[in-house]
Order: sequence, then C-alpha cells, then structure tokens
Amino acid sequence: MSPSSARNVDRITELQNSLTSLSKVALENEDERKKLLAVLRAQVAVLETPLEVVWRMMMEPHQSTALRSAQGMGLIEPIVSSSPRTATELATITKCDKQLIVRILRCLSAMKMVDEVDYETYASNPTTQILTVPSVGGGFKFMFDEAAVSVVHVPAFLSKTGYKNPEGPETCFQSAFNTDLQLFPYLMANPERMGHLNDLMTGQRMNRTEWFDFSDVDSILFDGMDTKDSDATLLIDIGGGRGHDLEAFRNKFPNAKGKLVLQDLPPVIADIEALDSSIVRMEHNFFTEQPIKGARAYYIRSCLHDYNDADDRKILRQIVDAMKPGYSKLLIFEWILPDVGTPLYPALLDLNMLALFSGMERTETHWRNLLESVGLEVVKVWSIGKETEGLIEAMKKA
Ligand SMILES: C[S@@+](CC[C@H](N)C(=O)[O-])C[C@H]1O[C@@H](n2cnc3c(N)ncnc32)[C@H](O)[C@@H]1O
Repeated sequence: MSPSSARNVDRITELQNSLTSLSKVALENEDERKKLLAVLRAQVAVLETPLEVVWRMMMEPHQSTALRSAQGMGLIEPIVSSSPRTATELATITKCDKQLIVRILRCLSAMKMVDEVDYETYASNPTTQILTVPSVGGGFKFMFDEAAVSVVHVPAFLSKTGYKNPEGPETCFQSAFNTDLQLFPYLMANPERMGHLNDLMTGQRMNRTEWFDFSDVDSILFDGMDTKDSDATLLIDIGGGRGHDLEAFRNKFPNAKGKLVLQDLPPVIADIEALDSSIVRMEHNFFTEQPIKGARAYYIRSCLHDYNDADDRKILRQIVDAMKPGYSKLLIFEWILPDVGTPLYPALLDLNMLALFSGMERTETHWRNLLESVGLEVVKVWSIGKETEGLIEAMKKA
C-alpha cells in the first residue's frame, strides 16, 4: 500500500469513529439526526457507481418480498416476543420449513431487520419490533399486496394502453388484479385486506401535520367570517372520512363561531363511532350538487389526488357553484410538488396514485391551471417544505 493510500485508510477509520459518536448524539435531536442522515445519503450518492445504483435497484423488490414472506410465515411476532429464537424453535412455532426460515431470515438479517446473533439464531431489534405495530406491519401488507403488485404491473399496463397517461375507464389496479372492481369496492369485499389499508391510514394519521398549524387561520377563516348569521357555516370538510381533521380543528379552536360540517358517503358517515357533538354529519357525494351554499370555507384533503383532471373538474365545479364570490374559500390540502426538483418520496407517491386509481399528485403549476380552468384563482400556496403536503387557498374568480 502506498503511503498516501495508507493515510487515506487511516482517515476513513478516524471518520468512521467520529461518525459513530456523532450519530449517538444526533439520535437525541431530531433535526440533527435528519441533517446527518441527509449528509450521509448525499455522500452515498457520490460514492456509489452507476452500475451499483442499477444493481441495487434490481434487487430492491426482493427485499420487500423477503419481509412480506416473513410476515406471512408468522416469523416476526415470535422473534419479538422472545429473543433470541433459533430456526428450529421458529419452525416448531410457525410450522414452516426450517430451511425456508433460514433463507428468509438471512435476507432480513442482511437488511438489518433482525439480528443474526449466532448460527441460525435471531434476535429482534427496533425495526423488528416496530413491525408488530399494526399501523406499520399491516400498512406494509397493503403496500405490498395491493400497491406494489399494481406498481409492478404499470409497465405492462402502459404498454397495453399505448403509453397514454392513465385516465380510465380501467385502472392499472383492475388490470393487475383482473377485476371489474375499483380499489375501494374490491377491498370492501375483502375485509382482511381492507383492514391492512385501515392500518396504513391509522399510521398516516399519527404523523399528520394539520393545515391550521402552519397557515394563518385568522386571515384564511376568522377575519371576515359572517358572525351575524347564526346559521353560517365556517368550515365544511368534503370527503372528510370519520371527521378527524374537523375534530382536531375544534380542539384547537373550541370557540370558533360558525358550523363545522363533515361530508362523506353514507357508509362512512354511518360508520362513525365517536365525533365531537358540535360537528354536523352530512351524507354527500362530492360529484353531486354541494348543498351548503356560501360557507366561509370548503376544505378537501387527500381526495382530489384519487382522480384525473376531468373528474376533479366535476368535483371542483360542484364546490365553485356553491361558493360566494369574494367571501368563500376553497382549501385544498394535498401534495404540491415543486415544478422542478421533486424529492423521491412524493415522486413515487404519484406513481402509486397512477397505479392504484389513475389518480395523480400535482405540481404547483398543474394545480394552478386546474383551478383556473374551473373559475378559481389561487390566493396563496401555504407550504412547509417539499417533503410534506401543503395548503392551497383559492377563491372564486371575480
Ligand atoms: C383518502 S380518503 C381522505 C379522507 C380524509 N379527507 C383524510 O384526509 O383523511 C378519501 C375520502 O373520500 C371519500 N369519498 C370517496 N368518494 C366520495 C364521493 N363520491 N363523495 C364523497 N366522499 C367520497 C372516502 O369515503 C374517503 O373518506
């Protein structure tokens, strides 16, 4: 080894030691942890050769397959409930073939999802443990069983449909699963699979940022609210599910004047077990006439990305027709992709929407054009960065 090469090896060892101690400190502070992770990821991108990038991608589906197989074989829970476990013990507990267990856990160990602590012996680590939380483990099952299967089918589907931007009538999901049913009716007929989607949704809700925590609610809603009319509506959540967003709003603004109204399809409204009694529940199909005219704000979250532009125009026109010019606001809480430089996660979310619904995530310019086309103008785009959803505040054009 040349002297300069030996010096570099020493520097790498020194760097590794200081990174190990810095990582321990960074784990105590979320901002520092994210910053250090971003720096290290950027360096990996510099050091990985183009061929390594392609080979890594080739083998990525195999990682998800190993984990989903481990879930299906029931390997995760016993490793977490009593650690460590031998392959022989796991074979007795799960009634699965020992050789197969060893092969699957070899992958999980290399992925750092379990710790291989001895010959054919496995211990849980924090990643193994979090997989037993339903919103994580169940959410992964939905993302593998329905989303990934649909995503893997995208190239064949695009080839079949002549490489057109998917706009229906058949979705990639329907083509992949050879079914006439769209995703939600399909899941409703498969309660276990529906349960996995509900797990995923629960997990997403736990990490939610509320729109009113980063925007100026006074200027958007309260200033200028018609407080003389005792029947006035402050906020309608259209397609609001079981009302969690309105409930969070009520908790933050318990004295806000005006009605809060939750709208969704009849089965969803009927399924609500508990909701603040001040919130009005209303069955409403957002493709039909909006029954509440002249509300201060019409709020819609994570619904428009399920559809293509033509269908979104149908939904938006029903809202626009109900809006009072110069007074009513439309609040859209969705991903607003930057026109240039979308990060990987939201870029892939768009592909997910394409595969499951023929829906899409939109750039800011796309949103502006879509809203303009139905007679709306954007008042302000409220953003807290590229890695999360943002709020579009819009009004009817004069
Ligand atoms: C992805 S969820 C979003 C729910 C909620 N806004 C949130 O962010 O958690 C889509 C919602 O749209 C509702 N939905 C679907 N089609 C609808 C329709 N035609 N009219 C009204 N709501 C509908 C669903 O029942 C579901 O609650």
